[in-house]
Amino acid sequence: MDHPMQTEVWNPQTLKELIQILHQLFSGDKVNAAEVQTLMESYESNPEEWSQYAQFDQFRYTRNLVDKGNGKFNLMVLCWGEGHGSSIHDHTDSHCFMKILQGNLKETLFDWPNKRGTGAMLKKSERVLKENQCAYINDSIGLHRVENPSHTETAVSLHLYSPPFDTCSTFDQRTGHKQKVKMTFYSQFGERTPFELSVSHENN
Ligand code: SIN
Repeated sequence: MDHPMQTEVWNPQTLKELIQILHQLFSGDKVNAAEVQTLMESYESNPEEWSQYAQFDQFRYTRNLVDKGNGKFNLMVLCWGEGHGSSIHDHTDSHCFMKILQGNLKETLFDWPNKRGTGAMLKKSERVLKENQCAYINDSIGLHRVENPSHTETAVSLHLYSPPFDTCSTFDQRTGHKQKVKMTFYSQFGERTPFELSVSHENN
């Protein structure tokens, strides 16, 4: 007899197959975050499959839309130049999965600041994620900042957000001050977004 919590073992051979399975897993009302995390981790990164989405910018990390998940999720490739990083941010009540496709990324977790946004923010933990690992976070776990710690190598990651969102809050580490910011795509389905629509939140 099947155990109610039992999850299917998936083994996607290609990015295309991974996306097909993600469509299945997100077709209902409920999301099994552990299952999605395991699935994303089991895809073995192949640059030939994702390089069409990997568009870099000289000055900041880029967000490149790969799939809109029938409105249930956004899947995107993020490209991190040497030393590039994001602001401390929340995830607008969504699930966030982050899989490393190439290189390493440092994830630093923070507690939410106090309500008044006065006072330095406490660092909870930090870790370095390596190729093919997949991290998970949501707002009840806390806030995070992601950085490419290397000054000689770029990094690429695959992010899934469900439900999709296009604004989030960023936080000043020294004061806890919060700011709402709009998030945009550097490219969509391999096509560069017009410049004026493509400014994202990491510089706020
Ligand atoms: C991150 O997790 O640091 C990336 C945030 C984003 O989606 O821009």
